[in-house]
Amino acid sequence: MLCSSHLLIIKNNRLAEKGKHEDELATTNNIKRCRCLEKSIVKVIVFIVVSLFISAALLDFLGYLDFNVFEGFKLITKRKEPKFPYQCDVVQNQSHQISSSQSRASSLNPNHSQPSTCPSYFRWIHEDLRPWKQTGITKKMIKKASKTAHFRLVIHNGKAYVKRYRKSIQSRDDFTLWGIIQLLRWYPGRLPDLDLMFDADDRPVVRSDDFISQQQKEPSPLFRYCSDDASLDIVFPDWSFWGWAEVNIKPWGKSLEAIKEGNNMTQWKDRVAYAYWRGNPYVDPTRGDLLKCNISEHEDWNTRLYIQDWDKESKEGFKNSNLENQCTHRYKIYIEGWAWSVSEKYIMACDSMTLYVKPRFYDFYIRGMMPLQHYWPIRDDSKCTSLKFAVHWGNTHVEKAREIGEKGSRFIREEVNMKDGDERGARARTMS
Ligand SMILES: *[C@@H]1O[C@H](CO)[C@@H](O)[C@H](O)[C@H]1NC(C)=O
Ligand SMILES: *[C@@H]1O[C@H](CO)[C@@H](O)[C@H](O)[C@H]1NC(C)=O
Ligand SMILES: *[C@@H]1O[C@H](CO)[C@@H](O)[C@H](O)[C@H]1NC(C)=O
Ligand SMILES: *[C@@H]1O[C@H](CO)[C@@H](O)[C@H](O)[C@H]1NC(C)=O
Repeated sequence: MLCSSHLLIIKNNRLAEKGKHEDELATTNNIKRCRCLEKSIVKVIVFIVVSLFISAALLDFLGYLDFNVFEGFKLITKRKEPKFPYQCDVVQNQSHQISSSQSRASSLNPNHSQPSTCPSYFRWIHEDLRPWKQTGITKKMIKKASKTAHFRLVIHNGKAYVKRYRKSIQSRDDFTLWGIIQLLRWYPGRLPDLDLMFDADDRPVVRSDDFISQQQKEPSPLFRYCSDDASLDIVFPDWSFWGWAEVNIKPWGKSLEAIKEGNNMTQWKDRVAYAYWRGNPYVDPTRGDLLKCNISEHEDWNTRLYIQDWDKESKEGFKNSNLENQCTHRYKIYIEGWAWSVSEKYIMACDSMTLYVKPRFYDFYIRGMMPLQHYWPIRDDSKCTSLKFAVHWGNTHVEKAREIGEKGSRFIREEVNMKDGDERGARARTMS
């Protein structure tokens, strides 16, 4: 039901469709280097996938994976990258790097299926899979998830097959599948056979309440981009890590490079000493509520809030929404929209202290971050006073505020990237 009302909103509000998720984001056309940091997101996925396999034990899995039932499935391993509609050849360029480092990846210890260092949020993956620990995952459970899933992905003998049930919003499903294909290229022969249902809509749908009392009912293992405390949906990195063509957002590694340069342009002390937010306020009432905290004749809540008009940006070639040009304020506000917001990582990467409005939803990494260490929490029921206080605190504790900003950024740059030994050199260089 949530999903259909969501679609309704999309239909009626083109603006919501474009900026549905994010807002202050945009892109950069001029970054020359590509270090393919997406590789490390790929590792997260390996971990999720392998954990699922181990954790669920998948007792009847092997028995049921009868591959005569490939009816309706398409082999996607050989598939081409999804195309950016704009003059963007980033994705294409990456594929070169992938093939050259593929051999390197496979020459590493092939028995080593987990990254050498486990970021703090990895333990949540086990938590997310706990509902299936006792029972394993049955064919019936997976089937049931097809009610809302956009696609079903099967990996068998290192090849990926997909069956599509419905079209996702924009190109989310294409970019998500592309991410999984990259995974196969990075780790040839190292993925277990698997079968997963993916729902590319925003809000979680597997309500845990439905499974508490009745033992006979088993929750569907359904993957999606975010979940909440009342749901059992399994979180998975969102499509924008590989790119978001509709709003011209490049893959995460590229965006991160751009933001790094943006960070360098305005030193913390020279940044505007107010809380900044730019986004689409129409996707959820909580964002409309935030706008009430903008500076007015009568009140100054220490904020500077702006509406992002994606329709206009799109027509003007996204000139005014470059991510790297948005690291100019000491404080940046994160607020979720209809669900979690992909803007989160771009906001956090700015070295500014993130003012994090109390969320309902979580994505795959946010549970590894700590309030007052990586961000400053903002009350959702009295946003204006909470924001005003946070900014005041920051401006009177400049060093501490800067430290929180830096720690948050470092988490996003390093933990959500988990570079391995090969990439450590690159990190040392960019941090010096
Ligand atoms: C992509 O690669 C081509 C040729 O290798 C190069 O001319 C182009 O500048 C590259 N584009 C980007 C965005 O790196
Ligand atoms: C990987 O595991 C296999 C069997 O468990 C073993 O024979 C092989 O030496 C291992 N390879 C490495 C590089 O550790
Ligand atoms: C940062 O800016 C300084 C000059 O202000 C420059 O020397 C340095 O190379 C820049 N670093 C990056 C990573 O752009
Ligand atoms: C918030 O206030 C600033 C400064 O007056 C203004 O430029 C901006 O348009 C306002 N934002 C909104 C959403 O009204």
